[in-house]
Amino acid sequence: MIKKIGVMTTGGDAPGMNAVIRSVVRTAIYKHLRVCGIKRGFRGLIDNDIEELTLHSVSGIINRGGTMLKTIRCPEFKEKKNQREAVDHLKVHSIDAVVIIGGNGSLAAGALLYYDWGIPVINIPASIDNDLCYTDYTVGFDTAVNTALDAIDKIRDTASSHDRVFVVEVMGRDSGSIALEVGLGSGAEAVIIPEVKFNADKLCDLLLRGYHRGKRSSIVIVAEGAARGHDVAEIIAAKTELEVRVSVLGYMQRGGAPSALSRTLAGRFGETAVDELLKGRGGRMVGMVGNKVISTDIRTVLKASKSKKINMNDYKLIGILAT
Ligand code: F6P
Repeated sequence: MIKKIGVMTTGGDAPGMNAVIRSVVRTAIYKHLRVCGIKRGFRGLIDNDIEELTLHSVSGIINRGGTMLKTIRCPEFKEKKNQREAVDHLKVHSIDAVVIIGGNGSLAAGALLYYDWGIPVINIPASIDNDLCYTDYTVGFDTAVNTALDAIDKIRDTASSHDRVFVVEVMGRDSGSIALEVGLGSGAEAVIIPEVKFNADKLCDLLLRGYHRGKRSSIVIVAEGAARGHDVAEIIAAKTELEVRVSVLGYMQRGGAPSALSRTLAGRFGETAVDELLKGRGGRMVGMVGNKVISTDIRTVLKASKSKKINMNDYKLIGILAT
């Protein structure tokens, strides 16, 4: 029987992680469980950096970006001796199950804890990248997209005043999800994403055709995993003689107050994670598919997410709407 759960945030932070922590803690306490916060992800579990959380510990955080539990990337957790230390610390604190909030790295770690060490684990997808299957959205993605859109709207003003092409680099190491959504939402002329081979000639033709039709400024969105914004700008400048500038949006996309979608997802995911553990289930990731909260085996999610498809219709639509 589960009496006490641990909660932690791992990997890159995402807006809405705090709202997830709040939901997990308050749902668990409502259902007569005790909750411990594990600080700095798996590093804190190995170092025994763990403390009990109360209803009050999570007050005033629903609207705050970042994570009150802090987070770190912890490749050392792959080592068996560190896993043993981590599991020992769970025992020291009488923690029966763990809720792990994070992206694909945290799913892999969750699978280790569950399958190799028998600890009931529920993962909650939180990452700005939206690179996981079995959930339409990860917590934080929508906020990051809105942050980028806000910045690009401003860039568009100066791009049009100066008749310039702007190359805007957005985050997404292995995934074009942010770039695609931002491209569609900002009315960009083109997006360059890791999932589609970059064709410099085609891009330059498109920009020149636009220019000859009277389009004096254009926006090109580049996912960091596909190319460097500065390299793309150099290519465009060399091949077209258009005036080009670059903006790398960077880490601002990871911060800020979570959007409504990031917060409401956080609330629902936190509740379902606790309920899953109380039903005796583990080794699963909660997700939202078609407006329904579901849960899926972690290994199934990991396997499918390795080749997550992007929405090619959106990719084509960006081109159609920009003509
Ligand atoms: O996983 C989210 C993400 O923001 C990626 O888009 C980006 O490439 C990476 O994290 C940056 O990670 P770090 O915080 O380790 O620099």
